[in-house]
Amino acid sequence: MRIETEPDQLSSIDFYRLLTNLVIPRPIAWVSTVDEQGRTNLAPHSFFTVASANPPIVQFTSVGRKDTLRNIEQTGQFTVCLATRHHLEAVNATATEFEAGRSEFTEVGIQPEPSKLVAPPRVADSPAALECELERIIEVGDSFLVLGKVVQAAVSDNVYNDQRRPDAQLLNPLARLGGSQWSALGDIVTIRRIPLDAWDGVEGTERD
Ligand SMILES: Cc1cc2nc3c(=O)[nH]c(=O)nc-3n(C[C@H](O)[C@H](O)[C@H](O)COP(=O)(O)O)c2cc1C
Repeated sequence: MRIETEPDQLSSIDFYRLLTNLVIPRPIAWVSTVDEQGRTNLAPHSFFTVASANPPIVQFTSVGRKDTLRNIEQTGQFTVCLATRHHLEAVNATATEFEAGRSEFTEVGIQPEPSKLVAPPRVADSPAALECELERIIEVGDSFLVLGKVVQAAVSDNVYNDQRRPDAQLLNPLARLGGSQWSALGDIVTIRRIPLDAWDGVEGTERD
């Protein structure tokens, strides 16, 4: 048996909770921005993914209008820093709704480091930062999709295991689940894609 629910049968907040309990785990973009006066801001966004492969574009969603969104509208720049398991309390603290202009870097005690190509600083002890130039903002429902072209990827050399790709275990990313639940990496399994000319069905399935 399934519990079937149409959005109209719940309040919008309850349907939102249903969605965010189902679309899991979500990676966390720790987004840094500056306002027109150069004051820094840092906030986590788990509605986050890669939007385009070439050019490289990432996207996150601001649910409603927040400081992060306003700063990006003003300056056209942001960084996405990777939040690791070690950053759990700090990430949560940066989601506190401080007044505009009051920096989460200062309030939470997060060390910034200058970015290479954009004004917003990186989180110094985050192993990876993507420096982004605003591509466009798309209003969707009550939310705003922020698309940013990645102009610089800054990745700590100690998370590369073979000098070619960052290693998941070494990155140790933090993820968001529903409600107040979070998670870290569980099992990591490796399986290769099956080329069409090697296709022979999936083991254990019947074929006509
Ligand atoms: C792990 C986590 C993920 C979050 N994801 C989002 C998100 O995807 N979109 C959003 O609008 N708010 C999200 N929030 C809430 C914002 O971080 C929060 O409203 C924050 O105060 C916004 O900061 P700002 O006003 O400085 O931009 C999230 C909070 C946490 C703790």
